[in-house]
Amino acid sequence: MATLLFMSVLLILSFLSLLLILYTLIQSKIRPARKVLNPGPTSYPIIGCLISFYKNRRRLLDWYTDMLSVSASQTIIISRFGARRTIVTANPQNVEYILKTNFTNFPKGKPFTEILGDFLGNGIFNVDGDLWYAQRKLVIHHFNAKSLKDSYVENILKEEVEKKLLPVLESAAAECKILDLQDLLRRLAFDLVCKVSLGYDPCCLEYNSLDKTHPIVEAFDLASEMCARRNAAPLSATWKFKRFLDLGSEKRLREAIKIIHLFINEIIRGRIGLINQSREEKSDLLSKMVLDGEEDGIMRDTMISFIMAGRDTTSSAMTWLFYLLSCHPDVENEVVKEIKVFEDEDLLKYESLKELRWLKACICESMRLFPPVAWDSKHAVDNDFLPDGTRVQAGDRVTYFPYGMGRMKDLWGEDRFEFKPGRWISEMEDGRIKALKNVGPYKFPVFQAGPRACLGKEMAFVQMKYVVASILKRFVIRPVTANRPVFVPLLTAHMARGFKVLVQRR
Ligand code: HEM
Ligand SMILES: *[C@@H]1O[C@H](CO)[C@@H](O)[C@H](O)[C@H]1NC(C)=O
Ligand SMILES: *[C@@H]1O[C@H](CO)[C@@H](O)[C@H](O)[C@H]1NC(C)=O
Repeated sequence: MATLLFMSVLLILSFLSLLLILYTLIQSKIRPARKVLNPGPTSYPIIGCLISFYKNRRRLLDWYTDMLSVSASQTIIISRFGARRTIVTANPQNVEYILKTNFTNFPKGKPFTEILGDFLGNGIFNVDGDLWYAQRKLVIHHFNAKSLKDSYVENILKEEVEKKLLPVLESAAAECKILDLQDLLRRLAFDLVCKVSLGYDPCCLEYNSLDKTHPIVEAFDLASEMCARRNAAPLSATWKFKRFLDLGSEKRLREAIKIIHLFINEIIRGRIGLINQSREEKSDLLSKMVLDGEEDGIMRDTMISFIMAGRDTTSSAMTWLFYLLSCHPDVENEVVKEIKVFEDEDLLKYESLKELRWLKACICESMRLFPPVAWDSKHAVDNDFLPDGTRVQAGDRVTYFPYGMGRMKDLWGEDRFEFKPGRWISEMEDGRIKALKNVGPYKFPVFQAGPRACLGKEMAFVQMKYVVASILKRFVIRPVTANRPVFVPLLTAHMARGFKVLVQRR
């Protein structure tokens, strides 16, 4: 009934705007092309850009990027029927203003936090204002550079890579078996983030169980997917009504969340008991929170947010890096040369990892073209103006767009579409890289920037360097097809249908 009403209203409005479309079409034929401030897609009164949006729905990223490149200040406004007014920007000054200068006017906002609220609760990833600030302080207190250096590299990473990742690759190489490298890296990242946060290893990465999915991973995947469906619902009332009736996707979401809560609560209870008995020093985030006497609910929400933030991001970045290296053997050879400078036992020390500058340049270059978080939105509290003059209305969705930014000629030059890690080098000495360029976080906001920047950035770099170096030192990775992979930007981006490769010993 509601849908019927909705459809007929839509129909009437469409008819009205059809007349206006014809009028605008005739008008636009005579208007000369020039760079305007916020060009946006071809829009018509009332329905907005619904037509172009529909035509481009399978290539939104590149459609936005194309429009941004012809905007005078790399900022566009999208208004379409049934969606909120959206400002998309690839302009570093605007990005700095949104993420730092007027931070308080651009929270994630209710449209976002409402969708993920059932799943993420009051975890750091899903709250704004004072609640967020309290969580951020708490987490930073337990998650500093020193603990990263002491326990992460020497214990957690080393063990996961040597005991699990390398043996899997070894077996695959011996059997000439085709592997999905993306799946493998996702399993690794999930195990790693669980160890860092929960101090528990779900062992998703094991050669004999690569065809199985751990129930907790399944629950996390399902919950993310169902939340994405909420986001795609034309009106938020639709999913809220479904939730009220406990139907379909909403029922499955509720069940997945229940599994996740049970699983994490059990680990928390076990840890409280263990620590009460021994009080031994543990390095994971949960143990530290237990020792500090945090509330159970807060610990649970923090754990869920952490797992969500840390699980698919690094695996996505590494998958695209391996793909790009396979297309650029000369760049890969340079990486291998850089790794070989170090003896086996020295390579994977925290200090040596810092010396792997070419590898770091490759990782940055790869994330420039394929950022794990391709776009990220805030919601304006109040009317405002961005530095380029774009007018913001209260309630607007304001999106900064790392994918488009990596493809702006103004920011990266004519060769912006090419994979050229050399662009990150600032200083050479005796044929070696002495320093990398210090590219500002608002020009390259892949980890976001400002007060709410990613907390896992250092850890992510250490992890990616360690894992990529460990693999390339021993193995050659070759894709099994020459097809161009497809970049899919959900909450985190991934490669459609995985990354099938053959592994050979180097
Ligand atoms: C290449 C890897 C990574 C990328 C590109 C990345 C990117 C981002 C981005 C864009 C945000 C902002 C999201 C938003 O506010 O909407 C973020 C936040 C966050 N990230 Fe990462 N991340 C990565 C790895 C990690 C890892 C490994 C961890 C933890 C183990 C982590 C922990 C967090 C946390 C806790 C936040 C929330 C910060 C806050 O809201 O105050 N990230 N990350
Ligand atoms: C710790 O253990 C003691 C007994 O060994 C018990 O009385 C107390 O309630 C426990 N505390 C917690 C927080 O579990
Ligand atoms: C920030 O946004 C508010 C609206 O919430 C606006 O009135 C104010 O001028 C902005 N502040 C700055 C520093 O531009």
